Amino acid sequence: PGPSVYEAEDATITAGLVESNHAGFTGRGFVNYDNAVGSAVEWTVNAATAGPADVVLRYANGTTANRPMNIALNGTVVSSGLTFPGTGNWDTWQTKTVRVNLVAGSNKIKATATTSDGGPNMDKLTV
Ligand code: GCU
Ligand code: CA
Repeated sequence: PGPSVYEAEDATITAGLVESNHAGFTGRGFVNYDNAVGSAVEWTVNAATAGPADVVLRYANGTTANRPMNIALNGTVVSSGLTFPGTGNWDTWQTKTVRVNLVAGSNKIKATATTSDGGPNMDKLTV
C-alpha cells in the first residue's frame, strides 16, 4: 500500500484555525497555528503493524524565523524543538520527516509550538 495521508484540517486543533488563503495546500486547507506557545495539531494515525515509520509533515513558514515544535508520539515527546525553518513565503510548502516507533493500531502524533510565534502553517501528515 502507498502512504496514508492525514490532513491537518481534519486533525484535533488546539489554538489554531483552518484556513485556505494561501495557495498550494492539499485537501480543504491548512491549519494556521495561533502565534502562541502551546498551539498544536494532533493527528490520529493508524498502523497495521508496530515498528518504525517515517512521519512527514508538510508546512509553510513565510517568515525568516524558525518555528520550532515538539513532536509527541502517544504522549511522549520524541523530537524536541524540531525546526520548521522559513520556506520563502506562505505559498511555498516543504516537509520535515521524523522517524517514530508506532504501535499497532491507533497512534496519536502531536506537533506543539514551543515559542510565542506559534507553529508554521500545517498542511498534512503523511506516513
Ligand atoms: C500571516 C499569514 C498566516 C500565518 C501568520 C503567522 O498572517 O497569512 O497564514 O499563519 O502570518 O505569522 O503565523
Ligand atoms: Ca499562525
